[in-house]
Amino acid sequence: MTLSPLFDFIRSLYGKTKAETIPLHEPKFLGNEKKYLLECIDSGFVSSVGKFVNRFEEEMARFCGSQYAIATSNGTSALHAILHAIGTNQECEVITQSLTFIATSNAIAYTGAKPIYVDVDLDSLSLSPSALEKFLHLHGQKEENHTINKHTRKIIKACVPMHTFGHPAKIEEISRICKEWHITLIEDSAESLGSYYIQKDQAIHTGLKGLASAFSFNGNKTITCGGGGIILTDNQKLAQKLKHITTTAKIPHPYEYYHDELGFNYRLPNLNASLALAQLEQLPKFLANKSKIAKAYEEFCLTHGIDFISARDGTKPNFWLNAIKLKNLEERNAFLEQSNAQGIMTRPIWKLNHQNPAYSHCQHDNLANSLFLQDRIVNLPSGVNLGYNSSISIK
Ligand SMILES: Cc1ncc(COP(=O)(O)O)c(C=O)c1O
Repeated sequence: MTLSPLFDFIRSLYGKTKAETIPLHEPKFLGNEKKYLLECIDSGFVSSVGKFVNRFEEEMARFCGSQYAIATSNGTSALHAILHAIGTNQECEVITQSLTFIATSNAIAYTGAKPIYVDVDLDSLSLSPSALEKFLHLHGQKEENHTINKHTRKIIKACVPMHTFGHPAKIEEISRICKEWHITLIEDSAESLGSYYIQKDQAIHTGLKGLASAFSFNGNKTITCGGGGIILTDNQKLAQKLKHITTTAKIPHPYEYYHDELGFNYRLPNLNASLALAQLEQLPKFLANKSKIAKAYEEFCLTHGIDFISARDGTKPNFWLNAIKLKNLEERNAFLEQSNAQGIMTRPIWKLNHQNPAYSHCQHDNLANSLFLQDRIVNLPSGVNLGYNSSISIK
């Protein structure tokens, strides 16, 4: 594959010369970020209590269409808190994909549970319903209200699919299988803010099908507040528990300290929430802009014989990170070498989680698609682009 036309195209897309670096996904602070931050500082409420945390939670719940939202210090803590709250512990196992950022596995391991890895589908890049079903038929044993792993005798407590790069997982099918096997569905939606799937002509936001979901506002995400996360759920009891345990499980009292269970210092600080709220106000414009960038990439790739990862039918991804599929590992490595040497930041998809030492002992299926994709997928620069066909302006 001749790479220079694609590199030239990326430079023209982002309006950069050969001497300039093009980041993979840089944050853009174009709205009320500074105003809200100053308001927050002036109020003195910079820590875990303050109006911005509550406002951010309300606005996130409204934007995504969930009943409750609980803001956390990051996406990993959001996922950990959910798994802890549903009772995941060392007697449990949790099914997820090996083709994910390591935080998915880490959150599972923090509870004492072990991840089990099943394969992804080539079209969604996310947990494969058929691989899940196959795994459960081979290794699962249904008990009255749960499923155990026949080999380890541990409870398969939860299933955590991840919406890879913002492409919605096949969540309807995964949900049906989880219900059949009494496994709690938790969505790792860290990358999928603003991603929808279509059901009966209705666009449904990712993260609403499972019992709860976790989002991330890390510096590289579609919107960021430096570090932050949020949990969405429609379950009132779970929402109350999550708010409680993410704020050290302290029983409210004017001066006494009493914590009625194990709690975590996972609340999003007001300072970060002020940024997050301002970023959320920008989200519709960011999404529109990112959709145009993805379309431009798609058209270029189509005319140049490059395999672009498009939206799957029935989905409307946020195109957090655009991706292409190269022919083999050799071509992938050459692409990464040359693009990065020329100041165009590109990245491979993650090393499969079970290939990292902390998870090398975990059970997995043959992961054929995950291994195939690992050798071929790379991400292209995907940040919001002020110069490109954009209605976004700097204030
Ligand atoms: C798939 C996935 N899960 C979890 C996380 C964890 O989020 P955070 O970095 O906010 O802890 C991230 C992103 O960083 C992610 O991409």
